[in-house]
Amino acid sequence: DLLKVEKEPVTVLVTGAAGQIGYALVPMIARGMMLGPNQPVILHMLDIEPALEALKGVKMELIDAAFPLLRGVVATTDVVEACKDVNIAVMVGGFPRKEGMERKDVMSKNVSIYKTQASALEEHAAAYCKVLVIANPANTNALILKEFAPSIPEKNITCLTRLDHNRALGQISEKLNVDVSDVKNVIIWGNHSSTQYPDVNHATVATSNGKKHVRELVADDNWLNSEFITTVQQRGGAIIKARKLSSALSAASAACDHIHDWVLGTPKGTWVSMGVYSDGSYGIQPGLIYSFPVTCDKGEWNIVQGLKIDEFSREKMDKTAQELIEEKALANSCL
Ligand code: NAD
Ligand code: LMR
Repeated sequence: DLLKVEKEPVTVLVTGAAGQIGYALVPMIARGMMLGPNQPVILHMLDIEPALEALKGVKMELIDAAFPLLRGVVATTDVVEACKDVNIAVMVGGFPRKEGMERKDVMSKNVSIYKTQASALEEHAAAYCKVLVIANPANTNALILKEFAPSIPEKNITCLTRLDHNRALGQISEKLNVDVSDVKNVIIWGNHSSTQYPDVNHATVATSNGKKHVRELVADDNWLNSEFITTVQQRGGAIIKARKLSSALSAASAACDHIHDWVLGTPKGTWVSMGVYSDGSYGIQPGLIYSFPVTCDKGEWNIVQGLKIDEFSREKMDKTAQELIEEKALANSCL
């Protein structure tokens, strides 16, 4: 078809690609779930020496799956080769939390990795590379990456709280027995940790009688103010307890949602949660990587402004900000 104009492939880096999330994520990217069904991709997969054989196996499987959109696969332990000309960097590599560990325990293991990889991205990635940090402590790893990659615009460095956002949508959908796609505009504020604040005060459900507020439909305020919040906050831990491994398919799916909406835009009237650098919105200390409600357009996110914050919310938003301030200090002391 001579009229068919082929798009240039986009190069996507996945670090820790031989791990659990990586294994779920790379086929999703190659199938167009991240960048759309008409966007060819080249995958760069980075892992470390002990995982090299497994990484080569993942590359073999990607070839065997014959994905029409996949135009190239690099599987390497060389961070420079991995970062070369990447347009999108999904940072999954690191040491995961195991049963009984808090995120703080994984801090020292992971921040030094993020410092090194920041420098490689800084030097070798394509201009305007967009970065999504998934490895925990996700917000603080992103902050370290931002500090050590000063030439990458700070708006391009984000962390994943979309999984928490999707978990909140899922809980409301289960509670009200409605389609999850009809639930909109929950918010995850703050850290991807058990101090995060899942907020339903602005959330809505599309019904046959028009849009209704979640607070109107869930008559049980007590559930919304306690069990709902703790379930979402502790869902990561619940998955670890059940699987003896941390969440992977839901994390990979949320990573695709995050980049998809960032690059291709959020639907009108809908926001999503992203960990982004604070510009001081809602009184959050500038410079922290904090999860806010954002809308995206033409490849840029913007924090939703002007939402009314009640006292209950204020306290929880500040508590999770405080944890991020402490994590930042701890990370700096580890480096
Ligand atoms: P995993 O252990 O299965 O995989 C991690 C991979 O990273 C391994 O293959 C490992 O060899 C590799 N790795 C280690 N050091 C590396 C380095 N310096 N460079 C490149 N690769 C390196 O772990 P997983 O279950 O895939 O989880 C990955 C990370 O994501 C963990 O930190 C986990 O806590 C985090 N996580 C975050 C979210 C979120 O919503 N933000 C959700 C789930 C998991
Ligand atoms: C998750 O939210 O599933 C992950 O961040 C795992 C964890 O460490 O809780």
